[in-house]
Amino acid sequence: MVKADKFIPKAIEKIQQQVTGGRAIIALSGGVDSSVCAVLAHRAIGDRLTPIYIDTGLMRKGETERIKEIFCDMNLVVIDAKDRFLGALKGITDPEEKRKAVGETFIRVFEKEAKELKADYLIQGTIYPDRIESEGGIKSHHNVGGLPSVMDFKSIVEPVEDLYKDEVRELARALELPHEISERMPFPGPGLSVRIVGEVTEELVSIVREANAIVEDELVEKFHPWQTFAAIIGKGTGVKGDVRVHGWIVAVRAVGSRDGMTAEAMELPWEVLNRIESRISASLPTVSRVVYDLTPKPPATIEFE
Ligand code: XMP
Repeated sequence: MVKADKFIPKAIEKIQQQVTGGRAIIALSGGVDSSVCAVLAHRAIGDRLTPIYIDTGLMRKGETERIKEIFCDMNLVVIDAKDRFLGALKGITDPEEKRKAVGETFIRVFEKEAKELKADYLIQGTIYPDRIESEGGIKSHHNVGGLPSVMDFKSIVEPVEDLYKDEVRELARALELPHEISERMPFPGPGLSVRIVGEVTEELVSIVREANAIVEDELVEKFHPWQTFAAIIGKGTGVKGDVRVHGWIVAVRAVGSRDGMTAEAMELPWEVLNRIESRISASLPTVSRVVYDLTPKPPATIEFE
């Protein structure tokens, strides 16, 4: 386990040696890895760092607003690219194609911004397991391997590339990042798009976002799941009033895990599951069914896509 008090000053010094003059940018996602790197880089080079937050429209409820608040003392650039991402996802149903569409759009938007800002260095929050998973070809994680090859930087700086997630969390606590960042559950790079089985539409993003907020509200603080969320997994018949409707099926996922490689469904009190169902059904009229996923990983993955 890395010692935060030793690592932090060394990392800052190393960034100062790597970023000699010129400007650096970092794609800030709000995840613990990029947040820690942004703070380290900001301490190292101050306003020569421009963190860029791309609002893909695929973030969770309130997330963009919180990022703006948390990083308000930096030169944060927020880009509203919701329409571009929705446009890129239009008509795509294959999970890997969706990942690619989000990844490529992300690169295009980021590239344009990097050019305009004339940045010489790219700072990335890559951590050790990202590299292993990506090399192993398990899934095209969109935050790995994409940016550097298409852009012309003097160099890429990866301050936490040899660390594991729990070590990065330790740094986040030591750097006094808010609890919601240091303890943030994993959230996939392609965001809510992989929590909608099939084609992504604006309507479905807003349904899954709302359902997800309810699930997190009921489970995160009380049960400390390794990961929990809602996903839309298809359509099913229901009755609303006297009318049969073909509504959306929302699946609730709550898992325990050590590292995401294996996971088991959490045993949750019935009353809590019931409350989640009633809150989702009451607030989302086009949802006809709420189910709880019992499948461990393997054979299932944690996400539905
Ligand atoms: P799965 O669904 O493969 O997920 O069991 C394992 C962990 O990885 C996260 N995940 C992703 N993270 N980009 C990411 O940055 C992705 O494309 C991606 N897909 C899955 C998932 O949330 C879980 O924590």
